Amino acid sequence: MPYRRKFLTRAGYTTLSALLTVGFLQKDKQKEDHSKNRTVANYTNDDFPLRQLAAAKGKLYGAAISHDILLKEKDYANLIARECSIVTPAGELKWGATEPQPGEFTFESADVIADFCQKHNIELHGHTLFWHMANPDWLPYPPTLKMIERHVKAVMGHYRESKVLKSWDIANEIIADNENETDNPTYGLRKGVKPELIRDLFLIAASVDNSKKFYLNDFGIEGATWKSDRFLKMVEYLKNSGVKIDGAGIQSHLWFSTAYSFDEKGFNSVLKRLNDLEVKPIITELDIVIDAPLPDSIKKLDQMVADSYKRYLDLCFAAKVDTVITWGLTDRHSWIRHPDWMPRKTFRENPNLWKFLRPLPFDENLKPKSARNAIAQAFGQATSTPIRLG
Ligand code: G3I
Repeated sequence: MPYRRKFLTRAGYTTLSALLTVGFLQKDKQKEDHSKNRTVANYTNDDFPLRQLAAAKGKLYGAAISHDILLKEKDYANLIARECSIVTPAGELKWGATEPQPGEFTFESADVIADFCQKHNIELHGHTLFWHMANPDWLPYPPTLKMIERHVKAVMGHYRESKVLKSWDIANEIIADNENETDNPTYGLRKGVKPELIRDLFLIAASVDNSKKFYLNDFGIEGATWKSDRFLKMVEYLKNSGVKIDGAGIQSHLWFSTAYSFDEKGFNSVLKRLNDLEVKPIITELDIVIDAPLPDSIKKLDQMVADSYKRYLDLCFAAKVDTVITWGLTDRHSWIRHPDWMPRKTFRENPNLWKFLRPLPFDENLKPKSARNAIAQAFGQATSTPIRLG
């Protein structure tokens, strides 16, 4: 979907009408707030779906979802449909799920999500064609160019005519975490991965379907770090190689703490460099965990999570970010509560601390938390980005 300024098409009208609706509703709400002496931000409470608040600013809001939960839990499916204008399949488009045996493809589970998107007018973000995890046992890392070609042709080809799938994480997490894990000091690529291979991967993708948006996606780049510097160099390399790369997916699995600070300045410089390179930054996997020292109540913790969301999204929106995807919608299904995935020992080894892992906008009972409010407020206060046209 091109980010073009042009006169309104049907999708433009949808956005405009959302904008007017929220505008009118906001006015009513402000009147009410005035009478009750409340702050203006209250209009963003539970009343409007996040997708509507985002659309009012020409933006998208969404979450990572799983097809099996969608089929099993009606309340979850309803909430996704209400709140999201974009979703990412958490696992259904990964190599292990789509090509379990060499050359044998299956899209059954991914298509459950694609059908759901079609039904509810939700965009689908394709994640991912190339990763070092969630791969079938037979696949080496990195795969050979021949394997990549067969895979990309089949998977992207399956969604070429899709009306909902509009973007792909062409490559995911190709940058190593530090200099000891790479044999390529310039680009910091994971061992065995050459910049030319990634360039060729993007070229193959463009030859299959260049109508979609192409992203390079990674984590740990939300500040001025060894990793973000390598990530930006790799983006620059791809740009200079003349391949199609539309955006950078900034995953944003974030940890905030009163014991250490968030590198606001460094994050701003990452966003600025991407904008200067004309590579659109989007937030692809946002969730926020509060690190020790932990507060003495869940209420306080939820407020800390919410404040962190607001602070982070304000920075993003000031840099014209137009897409925010949280990695899940509810704490009921957060990946971080899984012992295999929780990256920090303190939490992994203390199950009694798990109640403090509340990284998403809705709680286990699908009730909105302060974090949802904060996201709503951030959208409400954001300046508009150019209207996204379908
Ligand atoms: O669906 C099966 C279920 O049938 C089985 O009973 C269960 C047993 O453990 O496993 C289930 O599959 C798991 C799947 O998540 C769904 O929960 C897989 O074992 C597990 O490996 C898989 O983990 C996912 C992981 O990526 C690997 O694909 C996580 O949910 C998902 O959140 C995580 O997502 C990654 C992003 O792709 C990239 N960035 C980091 C992010 C978090 O790690």
